[in-house]
Amino acid sequence: MNIAKPVSAGNPCPFLRALVSQGMINDEFQPIGRLSDTICAISRVSDGGKPLPFVLVALIALAANGLSPVQIWRNGRQGVHLSGLRGGPLDKRGAGSRVIGVDGTVNEAELERLAGFASPKTDSAGETEPGLDAAEITRFMETNWARAAGHRRAIDRKLMDGEWPVLLQVLGKQGAGGQYLAVADIRQFVVDRALPERIASRLKL
Ligand code: HEM
Repeated sequence: MNIAKPVSAGNPCPFLRALVSQGMINDEFQPIGRLSDTICAISRVSDGGKPLPFVLVALIALAANGLSPVQIWRNGRQGVHLSGLRGGPLDKRGAGSRVIGVDGTVNEAELERLAGFASPKTDSAGETEPGLDAAEITRFMETNWARAAGHRRAIDRKLMDGEWPVLLQVLGKQGAGGQYLAVADIRQFVVDRALPERIASRLKL
């Protein structure tokens, strides 16, 4: 998979940015049923094979552009406004990894920092590569949370649990010592906006 489409800077989710770029979802308004189907289909072909619950994904999408009844109704009717996610209730406004800047560009220094939380992992073929397991991801999130002291909401720490740990579940490799997110996969995903080939090739969307 190569980058096929540009993605709006108003979409700060690296996962959704990759799906837009690969033409799987729309950069503007994306119907919630189709969005949730796409995300759940990817989770079903993950190495761990643990699918994400459709209803949970759909509920997050319903609330993603605002929590007022009017906005939730609008999301239900028109779909999620993906290029309008920035500034919405799920945007932690710098309390996360900061790998994607407010202008939508990748922050290389922050990606390097992320890689600093990784350690050598052995994949199922016996090859060694840097990766982050669940404990390292938790340490990464705790450090991001601490860095944001003074400009974070209490909910931001809870939101984090629905981001990198879910990415581990969906894109993680089954290594000799357990599941991990390969740094190379994170880079490909954030910078090239592409899913790992082993996952993309299993998809029948
Ligand atoms: C309805 C579906 C989804 C919506 C509306 C959504 C929305 C968002 C938003 C608004 C952010 C920005 C948070 C910030 O920068 O503070 C974000 C970040 C993120 N999301 Fe999503 N997302 C969705 C699904 C997913 C899924 C399924 C995954 C994993 C497979 C995922 C993984 C991530 C990750 C890793 C981040 C980066 C957090 C960071 O930089 O620290 N998202 N998402």
